[in-house]
Amino acid sequence: MKILITGGAGFIGSAVIRHLLRDTDHSVVNVDALTYAGNLASLGEVSGDARYAFEHEDICNAEAMARVFATHRPDAVMHLAAESHVDRSIHGPADFLATNLVGTGVLLEAARAYWEGADESCRKSFRFHHVSTDEVYGDLEGPEGLFTESTPYAPSSPYSATKAGSDHLVRAWHRTFGLPVLVTNCSNNYGPYHFPEKLIPLMILNARAGKPLPVYGDGQQVRDWLYVEDHARALVRVLEAGRVGETYNIGGHNECTNLAVVETICDLLEELTYERPESVARYRDLITYVQDRPGHDLRYAIDAGKIEQELGWRPVETFESGLRKTVQWYLDNDDWVEGVTSGAYREWTARHYGDA
Ligand code: NAD
Ligand code: DAU
Repeated sequence: MKILITGGAGFIGSAVIRHLLRDTDHSVVNVDALTYAGNLASLGEVSGDARYAFEHEDICNAEAMARVFATHRPDAVMHLAAESHVDRSIHGPADFLATNLVGTGVLLEAARAYWEGADESCRKSFRFHHVSTDEVYGDLEGPEGLFTESTPYAPSSPYSATKAGSDHLVRAWHRTFGLPVLVTNCSNNYGPYHFPEKLIPLMILNARAGKPLPVYGDGQQVRDWLYVEDHARALVRVLEAGRVGETYNIGGHNECTNLAVVETICDLLEELTYERPESVARYRDLITYVQDRPGHDLRYAIDAGKIEQELGWRPVETFESGLRKTVQWYLDNDDWVEGVTSGAYREWTARHYGDA
């Protein structure tokens, strides 16, 4: 297949592209606007591959999307482009409304026009795979219960509300126009090339620099962590074998409180680094409780039974093995971190944490 991937320069999109070019025969057209979160450095190892092409375009631009479909004539779309950070959506929702809602609508219309004009065999095999999040379900109260594919939507933040809206758009284009869609909703990813505004890379890099580790509220919120390469394999499995019109939840069965995640990162750094910053006796001493995120979801946890039973996908990494690999990757890849933490990112952290 020739797969048109939106958001391929981001954290998960780049993992999907590396997986596709390393482990399959598919080819890739990466459509990315290169926002602060998009970094071509994450695709260094595949950018010279003859099966890889890059289109620097914004998914909100209808003309550009029509041109991309006409030029590349893809067999499938994997739609990952989004504004993805909850805290940013609280500080300024406008970009989330534009990309996650309007951009998804524009992309659906471009895909529909292309699909309606295609020959019969292409119309039959074409897929539009929308990559979404478990945050559309809101949060779970208490330690029991899991999100299933039929859990009602109850998003809490501007980010998750716009992702929920985009899921509805995709399903409406299937029901009304017959566009062959697939939807996946995944839990929290972590791993290499994760932008350092998100919990795990932020904590690793702050600890190394001897900066405070800002835990929101009491740190007892629970997330269900999945190694990004396991997510990438799940997405390709769904694209290749998922049933049209269906939704698949994806998760790693790795529930952990935020505080426990941060403490484990500190312990791994004690083990894996030779020296600490001068002022730091123990990395755990850097843990600092800060004001909670407004509307903070308490607990996410995924029932991944459907994708496991129907498509035979299972995660390879445990949280222990994946987190160890991740910490080691950040210790070994200063150049990537330096490259992505531009002036604009430093301004954001200064505004958000009052600490440049
Ligand atoms: P990310 O923020 O790392 O990357 C997003 C990418 O989209 C970037 O390369 C950015 O340049 C691009 N982009 C943004 N706006 C664009 C636009 N208007 N036009 C074209 N490109 C644009 O995000 P991520 O963490 O890799 O997440 C990818 C997708 O997976 C998102 O849809 C997100 O909602 C979903 N998701 C993420 C997680 C997670 O834990 N990170 C979990 C479940 C689902
Ligand atoms: O569940 C899937 C979602 O996971 C994705 O859809 C989002 O794109 C992705 O960003 C992620 O959302 P979260 O809000 O869960 O991730 P984040 O890394 O921002 O925060 C994880 C938890 O850690 C959350 O409970 C907030 C907390 N946190 C976060 C930061 C950045 C802190 O305590 N301190 C911090 O500095």
